[in-house]
Amino acid sequence: MVRDNFVKESIYPLHEWNIIEENFDVETNYLDETIFSLGNGYIGMRGNFEEGYNGPSDTSVEGTYLNGFYETHPIKYGEPAFGYAKNGQTMLNVTNSKIIKLYIDDEEFNMFSGNLVSYKRILSMKKGTLTRDVIWESPKGKKVNIKIKRFISLANKHLASINYEVVPLNFSGKITIASALDGDVKNLQTENDPRVGSALEHQPLTLEDKFLSDSLGIIVQKTPNTKFTLVCGMENELKTTCNFSKENKEIEQRVENKYIIDATEGEKIVLNKYITYYTSRDYLDDELIPKAKETLTIARKKGFEKNLQEHIEILNKFWEHADVEIKGDKALQQGIRFNEFHLLQSVGKDGKTNIAAKGLTGQGYEGHYFWDTEVYIFPFFLYNYPKIARKLLEYRYSILDSARKRAREMAHKKGALYPWRTIAGEECSAYYPAGTAQYHINADIIYAVKKYIEVTEDMDFLLKYGAEMVFETARLWADLGSYIPKKGNKFCIDSVTGPDEYTAIVNNNFYTNYMAKMNLEFGYDVANLLKDKYLDVYNRIKEKINLEEDEIYEWKKAADNMYLPYDEELDIYPQDDNFLEKPVWDFENTPKENYPLLLHYHPLVIYRHQVCKQPDVLLAMYLYSDEFTKEVKKKNYDYYEPVTTHDSSLSTCVFSILASEIGYNDKAYKYFMHTARIDLDNYHNNSQHGVHTACMGGTWMSVVNGFAGMRVEKGQLKFNPYLPNNWDGYRFRIMFKGRRVEVNVDRENVTYKLLDGKPINFKHGSKSISLTDDEMVKVPIEHN
Ligand code: BGC
Repeated sequence: MVRDNFVKESIYPLHEWNIIEENFDVETNYLDETIFSLGNGYIGMRGNFEEGYNGPSDTSVEGTYLNGFYETHPIKYGEPAFGYAKNGQTMLNVTNSKIIKLYIDDEEFNMFSGNLVSYKRILSMKKGTLTRDVIWESPKGKKVNIKIKRFISLANKHLASINYEVVPLNFSGKITIASALDGDVKNLQTENDPRVGSALEHQPLTLEDKFLSDSLGIIVQKTPNTKFTLVCGMENELKTTCNFSKENKEIEQRVENKYIIDATEGEKIVLNKYITYYTSRDYLDDELIPKAKETLTIARKKGFEKNLQEHIEILNKFWEHADVEIKGDKALQQGIRFNEFHLLQSVGKDGKTNIAAKGLTGQGYEGHYFWDTEVYIFPFFLYNYPKIARKLLEYRYSILDSARKRAREMAHKKGALYPWRTIAGEECSAYYPAGTAQYHINADIIYAVKKYIEVTEDMDFLLKYGAEMVFETARLWADLGSYIPKKGNKFCIDSVTGPDEYTAIVNNNFYTNYMAKMNLEFGYDVANLLKDKYLDVYNRIKEKINLEEDEIYEWKKAADNMYLPYDEELDIYPQDDNFLEKPVWDFENTPKENYPLLLHYHPLVIYRHQVCKQPDVLLAMYLYSDEFTKEVKKKNYDYYEPVTTHDSSLSTCVFSILASEIGYNDKAYKYFMHTARIDLDNYHNNSQHGVHTACMGGTWMSVVNGFAGMRVEKGQLKFNPYLPNNWDGYRFRIMFKGRRVEVNVDRENVTYKLLDGKPINFKHGSKSISLTDDEMVKVPIEHN
């Protein structure tokens, strides 16, 4: 169903490259902090104010996060059972380094005192900066203009910086600027919404050491359970022609450099603050402080502007590759750029970290990585930054041992079972029916491996990492399923949960069985490829994992005999063995405010109805598009759409893409609107806890795979573009097998251009297109 709250008034004015806030509003502050977050895939900072926040406590959450930096805690169950996930992992809110306080005499600047004469905040997606320009009048009538610029460097993952400018407008006198690091920080605790907060009750970081000189401050902390060391450092540089004195202050977990300035009316005072984070997840303990000092020294030597330029250069390249241009619709243009920008800001690029469901913007889902990455986010990187895509898969290889361990805990004799949600590899889902039971994650990861190889032809990855992952996951499926006489001796998979979390612990979930079939088949194919062409690699892996020759044939047999539920009467694929035997949810009598259902009904009430949180059968049909005809997709779409609530942010993009394919263009557009602006318009009313990275990836897919109909089927690239009615055109670029192709769609035609790489052949609708150097090919739209 397309709920009518889908198209809302926008909170921020529409602008193609910026997110702008014209007025400070307590009501939206919590959300603004998410929206104005900055990150570089390693450090993430919410858009908190440098001076702190004096408003009501439920309208703000201070947050700075480091990708992959976490603390563990035992998961407490009222009624534990064997094999339940034992420990939670929580991405920590780390030392707050944003703090810069300003005093005019003894009057402290904050947004709640005095008079805010003017205010403007801009997130520039082109420059990757957050700027705030404020004219503030103190309660005693002293006016200052404060201009603050912040960025987190894409050129150096350990560096962030703030440029803080103050001009006294109507007085000369004492101004004090205090720049601090504060290690006394906490995470949110779980309350009523299972999607927010953690079980970490106390301040998890303990102070190990601190240093403070005239311009340098360092705080060293440790996590008690994971025993990680965290070093946070700052270097402050004051630039002013006025006289000033300095004071240094240390209190418990806080260090502060204070500058007391004899300010002159109209004279600019500038503080440049360079910030760094290093942890023992990347370096040895002894290296952390020297590294932090070195980063700060270099940053100061270069200066704010030069560091910023280096950061912008990286961002320019990013936009050159990844920008999706939409002509004639500012709201969507803003939405898609915002989403792409946040994907870049959130993604771990070191092979040891991944991309969290909420990026580095909030504490929703505790900073965990889910299947969101492989199915929803991975394509964006695969077709724009294949190198980053590889790193995401390397991360999955890095946790393969944990997945093997988990498989043993779950009584599987062989293979690996990837965790439903995790940071470092251990299963962290405390609610197994919608957690561990989602075995499909194994096949989702392998789906991404398969696509990666298909699109990049990177055999090195397959040989070093991919093949082993493929074999271990195939083994798991072989162990999990069984041939059931009552099902015609077909290979059945029981007691799992598919992607739709409103239906749990079912037999023969269509999506899971379908994806498992592909995983098993791919296992068989990769084994044969290796035996054929890379025998030494095959033997190495075989020995390492004790692979027996028979197993490979078992995979093929299971794949060939996989049971896929089908209902003759309705001519659709049921979501599982019993889905169609349940009553349909009473949508008519469900008040609007009862969505999302998960917050208003016991899970059992939901499970015993035909109601979907998100696509399941339809997702398989999109991922393996060429295996299903348009008619079959349409039939299934028509059945499942009315029973889907889209309570998951992973839903609308898939509906948009399929709607495009089957010619439901209006629906495709509506679903896209919702997908593209989910956080900017806060459609799920929870963006304050962090952005929805899967949905952000889904935005890109909705344009490229939806409106432009791109598919890669058996190694062959295809497009089938059309132009949504409200647009004048759109343009994007993709990387495919080392080539870079630009696709430009207008009302009647599509222009393809080869920007880089060898000549390429692909399909446009039913036509074959060949592109050679620099050549453009213009063809009429075929989509109908
Ligand atoms: C969805 C899952 C998703 C998780 C994290 C849930 O609401 O149902 O599919 O993995 O959010 O984004």
